Amino acid sequence: MAATKYGNLLKKLKYEASEVKSKAGAAEYMTMAGGVDLEGINLSFAWGYRHWLGGWGSDGGFGHTHPYGECLLFTGLEYARPDYLGAEIELALGSEKHLIDSPAIVVLPAGVPHCPLTSKKVARPFGFLAVSLSGEHKIAKSPRAGKPEQSDIKTGELVQKMELRDTKRKSGGNADFISWWNGKDREGFNLNFTWAFHTGLGAWHDRDPHVHPNDECLVFMGLDPGRPDYLGAELEIAMGKDPEIHVFDTPTAVVIPAGLVHCPLVTSRVDKPYGFSAISLNTAHETTWLGKASS
Ligand SMILES: [Fe+2]
Ligand SMILES: [Fe+2]
Repeated sequence: MAATKYGNLLKKLKYEASEVKSKAGAAEYMTMAGGVDLEGINLSFAWGYRHWLGGWGSDGGFGHTHPYGECLLFTGLEYARPDYLGAEIELALGSEKHLIDSPAIVVLPAGVPHCPLTSKKVARPFGFLAVSLSGEHKIAKSPRAGKPEQSDIKTGELVQKMELRDTKRKSGGNADFISWWNGKDREGFNLNFTWAFHTGLGAWHDRDPHVHPNDECLVFMGLDPGRPDYLGAELEIAMGKDPEIHVFDTPTAVVIPAGLVHCPLVTSRVDKPYGFSAISLNTAHETTWLGKASS
């Protein structure tokens, strides 16, 4: 393959199947990336498909804390029902337990004890995204988790219902249903991110290329829990001032370092709805558009 200047910034997502020996049914799949996988930006993420009942076993299945902020996102996988999660999941936060039964975002400031996670009921497979503000995974077993002694954190306000807004998109490849979160009111969250379902063809934005003062990671994932390597769409993204076009049709994370001119992003084929998350390491989505509107 010919050498490219920016090809290293496109990362094909590598999924691992869970151990199926002790559980009935098909495997669950998970991908994780952080640190050097993402060119050293201050971010890691995990994304996976779940359908088993019982304890998740994440990070050993015990209550734990991180020395950095983390957000957990729970989503359904059905384009026709963006507000449907299809499962009831219990999440321990400190000594409290919260039931998540609709799409949700859980905000975990540094030091807040969380987990275990337990799927109580599962009608349909669902998706799970964890976004951590560190390139390196750091964890401490929490002495507080599951114990009656409590901190001053009101854990209920950390769990937020996630609503996917219908954008009523008329043309172009941008989102059909989208939700977003930003950390401007949360200390320690130099972060904003979106979660969306897409089916549209064409250019995503009107005034590309553009640039951000912060690092960004664009994550494209399929919505078929049995076929994690299937995106269901083909896209092309221009990278750099002298644009280099990169085409991909499998689940991919695109790392955009601060200051790198990027886009247009164009969807050239869609066979199935797919999921997308734009993760920006900034409390606001600061964008400088460098192109002219086409109309
Ligand atoms: Fe965690
Ligand atoms: Fe961007």
